[in-house]
Amino acid sequence: MLLKKTVRDLPLAGRRVLMRADFNVPLEAGAITDATRITASLPTIRYILDQGAKLVLMSHLGRPKEGKFEATSSMAPVAAELGRHLGFPVPLLTDPRTPAALAEVTALPAGRVLLVENVRFFAGEGDNSPELGAAYAKLGDVFVNDAFGSSHRDQASVTGPAKHLPAVAGLLVEKELQAFECILGKPARPFVAILGGAKVSDKILVIENLLARVDVLLIGGGMAYTFLAAQGKKIGSSKLEADRIPLAKELLAKAIAKKVRIVLPVDHLVADRFAADARKMGAGDDIPDGWMGLDLGPNSIELFTREVLGAKTVLWNGPMGVFEMEAFAGGTRAVGEAMARSGAVTVVGGGDSAAAVNEFGLADKMTHVSTGGGASLELLEGKELPGLAALNS
Ligand code: 3PG
Repeated sequence: MLLKKTVRDLPLAGRRVLMRADFNVPLEAGAITDATRITASLPTIRYILDQGAKLVLMSHLGRPKEGKFEATSSMAPVAAELGRHLGFPVPLLTDPRTPAALAEVTALPAGRVLLVENVRFFAGEGDNSPELGAAYAKLGDVFVNDAFGSSHRDQASVTGPAKHLPAVAGLLVEKELQAFECILGKPARPFVAILGGAKVSDKILVIENLLARVDVLLIGGGMAYTFLAAQGKKIGSSKLEADRIPLAKELLAKAIAKKVRIVLPVDHLVADRFAADARKMGAGDDIPDGWMGLDLGPNSIELFTREVLGAKTVLWNGPMGVFEMEAFAGGTRAVGEAMARSGAVTVVGGGDSAAAVNEFGLADKMTHVSTGGGASLELLEGKELPGLAALNS
């Protein structure tokens, strides 16, 4: 249902391929700190070049003020990283809207690559200007979307060129869709989903969509406390979305009606303030006043681990605690480790959970770790992503 035509379905020899990638990588003082999103698109890049095509790549990087050049958001570090992997320099195309840019693409030999400067430097990118989309399209004979992580954005570089060119998915997008198809289509059962993260309000649509598909829903992280409050538990000063308590009650009732078991933490690691060096202690079912839950307790870890080990399919989206602070990373680490040794089909949504499995060295033990945070969340909500809808099926 999700799958589209891919680069393999088009003859590429001698053609100009325009490809939107998601090279939105983290930078510190101008240096890339995690190049996963660049390496994830290399198979598509190499495939296109091996076919004898020339390749024009484009991506956004960060959220610069649109419409003007900003040195700290330049694609230069990405071009250098690509060059290191490919073994030849990847020049930057500073303004793709000009005749000079077109001439540079024409002069580019087959098997070589140009990288367009940050698409967010060009006015109209965010508003999906038809003129900008048409200008991009002039640089290619074929459009490839390999930017899974940006496919929920209806922006000029993501959906614009597809209005003018044959448009297909890249191999990364194909891999992502196969993984999500596998869990959203006919998953092997039991199918256990683990949801975490700070807020219930961010995950309402995901929960609603998953209740129709999963056998068990494990809920941890900050969002668990609104559910626990809805069950009448004392949650001390833990994160609470008081206005979402009625919704949490409704979702708990829906789960019962659909015969989905929702499993919540039964104990907690609590702290007297939100800080790595806070005073901490274990707490049972009820959290005393003045203390906040920042991670799963040992019994919850055991409970969640048991559920994961009994599953045939596991989907994980959102950390179980404040894993950025080592003192409160135990629950998130334990869930990742249980998935890694479960033998189940394991899919990790992008964003924080992907960062966690990378940090714990578990990424290569998962069936799939998504490169898209917002994009994977929207897929799990059951939404159609504009960047995928624009492609030929
Ligand atoms: C992401 O990091 O989730 C994608 O690259 C999209 O970035 P954006 O939220 O700035 O559009």
